[in-house]
Amino acid sequence: MAEINEQVSNYLAADVIAQRVAQIGAEITAQVSTTRPLVVVCVLKGSVIFFADLVRHLNVPTNLVFLGVSSYAGATESSGAVRLTHDLTLDIAGRDVLIVEDIVDTGLTMSYLLETLRARGPKSLRVCTLLHKPARKRVDVPLDFVGFTIDDVFVVGYGLDYDERYRNLPFIGTMQFGHGA
Ligand code: IMP
Repeated sequence: MAEINEQVSNYLAADVIAQRVAQIGAEITAQVSTTRPLVVVCVLKGSVIFFADLVRHLNVPTNLVFLGVSSYAGATESSGAVRLTHDLTLDIAGRDVLIVEDIVDTGLTMSYLLETLRARGPKSLRVCTLLHKPARKRVDVPLDFVGFTIDDVFVVGYGLDYDERYRNLPFIGTMQFGHGA
């Protein structure tokens, strides 16, 4: 049986990401309340690296919380089925909430997150995504802050995985799949 070869090519370099993350942090800081703490939701696991970098550029009071969702189960295509694997440990009713995602691809995950969190009665609910892949959109979701709009390519690194690997790459790369000997 042929071995599967995976190759990762640079797509967004670490310094390019760092610069944009600092800009987004400043944009968010300029648009949110400076008196009410902002509930910043890290969507596990893909946004963990982006989240950690972004929150250090928010110059407002924050509460940091974590929400686990699972959507792809090891493949590169969205199944459309989203599952909550870890719930928030904080009541968001009446609070200003910012969802931090790694990538909005079909939009199905974000649509599920918005519906789930909106039902809990936050005062405001905003979305920040590092990457947006509009070519594969299946549902429209409002995106308040977007880092980079990207082509229809499968990306890994800086939190994003393929089959749970590559999350620790300091840059974002595109995956090429080939068949070796
Ligand atoms: P959506 O539901 O199709 O918008 O996909 C959202 C989730 O799918 C993201 O949070 C990622 O975990 C995963 N995903 C989508 N596109 C990619 C990609 O290019 N690389 C790695 N993960 C991806």
